[in-house]
Amino acid sequence: MKVLIINGPNLNMLGAREKEIYGETTLADMNAEIAKEMLAYGIETVFYQSNIEGEICGAVQQVKSTYGADGLVINAGAYTHYSRAIGDALGCIKVPKVEVHISNVHAREDFRHVSVLADNCNGVICGFGSDSYKLACLAIKGIYDRAK
Ligand code: DQA
Repeated sequence: MKVLIINGPNLNMLGAREKEIYGETTLADMNAEIAKEMLAYGIETVFYQSNIEGEICGAVQQVKSTYGADGLVINAGAYTHYSRAIGDALGCIKVPKVEVHISNVHAREDFRHVSVLADNCNGVICGFGSDSYKLACLAIKGIYDRAK
């Protein structure tokens, strides 16, 4: 089975941005690590990153048609906290969806405690660095396998 992993604004800056919060690994290296580890579980991954809200909505809508994916992992960055458009896009698709964050958003500023995406996702995983994405892929595989 296949999972689309979407990263939103400023996640292309991983490795350079606020290293004390997000670590030293670049997005390309993190994606390569996720792809390699998930293959051992029979999960193929495909990656998309954009800093632009509408482009993220487009990628969400195309989870099946363009990406042929069975599930979606999304780290929408700061859009998580206020993008009703991305929240609505998630509501448009039927595949299992997990919101993820590298940092523990609940241990940070108040505005990061709010998600306008979570109610349209199966669940949320945050605070485990790159493992947040891997745990989300495994959660999606669990839903997929049980539905078979
Ligand atoms: C983030 C947390 C968000 O609050 C922040 O705006 C990000 C990254 C995370 O992965 O920890 O850009 O989504």
